[in-house]
Amino acid sequence: MRRKITVVGAGMVGGTTAQRLAERDYADVVLVDIVEGLPQGKALDLLEAAPVLGYDGAIIGTNSYEETADSEIVVITSGLARKPGMSRDDLVMKNKAIVQSVVESVVHYSPNSILVMVANPLDAMAQLALKVSGFPRERVCGMAGVLDTARFRTFLAHELGVSVRDVQAYVLGGHGDTMVPVIKYTTVGGVPIDKLLSKDDIERLVTRTRKGGEEIVNLLKTGSAYYAPSASVVDMVDAIMLDRKRILPCAVYLQGEYGINGLFVGVPAKLGAGGVEQIIELELAPEEQAALKRSADAVQELVDIMKI
Ligand code: 2OP
Repeated sequence: MRRKITVVGAGMVGGTTAQRLAERDYADVVLVDIVEGLPQGKALDLLEAAPVLGYDGAIIGTNSYEETADSEIVVITSGLARKPGMSRDDLVMKNKAIVQSVVESVVHYSPNSILVMVANPLDAMAQLALKVSGFPRERVCGMAGVLDTARFRTFLAHELGVSVRDVQAYVLGGHGDTMVPVIKYTTVGGVPIDKLLSKDDIERLVTRTRKGGEEIVNLLKTGSAYYAPSASVVDMVDAIMLDRKRILPCAVYLQGEYGINGLFVGVPAKLGAGGVEQIIELELAPEEQAALKRSADAVQELVDIMKI
């Protein structure tokens, strides 16, 4: 029997995530959505691509959760996407109801799974998932840092005319306007970024990174980003499924690390077969530590709105 991964939400992020996972060919993929026909249609389309691309796993589209039973990882993308003019935070109450019922169903059928949250507002939805699932913190994480960091790396690489592969960075904090690109750990070919770009240029790229999701929403007009988000999800799923012990920035439940207690915030974490196997505490500059605290406060405000 193959290993199984479930993707909840067959919209653009969910569908693209299912595609990337199917093409990896290391697990069966179950795609779930409440819209009748949507997950079935996308799953069939993906299956019909299999002979061309050469993958053999099962891809099941369904409106119910029975088929998700015993998934090792469940990626939860369900919820409304942002529309132009709408902040991630406007989404909080709308998506709370959706995510709560999804997590209840997921946990019923896959009590040993690892949850990778993608629904926005990301950190608050991860907090909700931890609460509703009753899972230990090792088995609930959120995808945002990989995406935010990828955006920052893209902008830096283009600015400097170098390969994205040679730009290393960490964007920490909540997935919102308060996210914290850590300049001290941003290097290009090992050279610290502040030796290569002026303060103003760095600040311009940091601002663009903070507004990276919004930039795509404004261009697309009818939805939000999905290629980079799904690539980022799959980076995390690979780390867990293949026990890679990757150190990736992701939303994890802090219990005193970075001086933050009882809250999901984006920080570097080691992802492997056990889920979040370790939280890495970087040494931050005082202003970065303060920015991380402000970002955590913004997440706390959303958690307070949900009253969980
Ligand atoms: C993004 O950053 C919408 O949060 C999503 O693209």
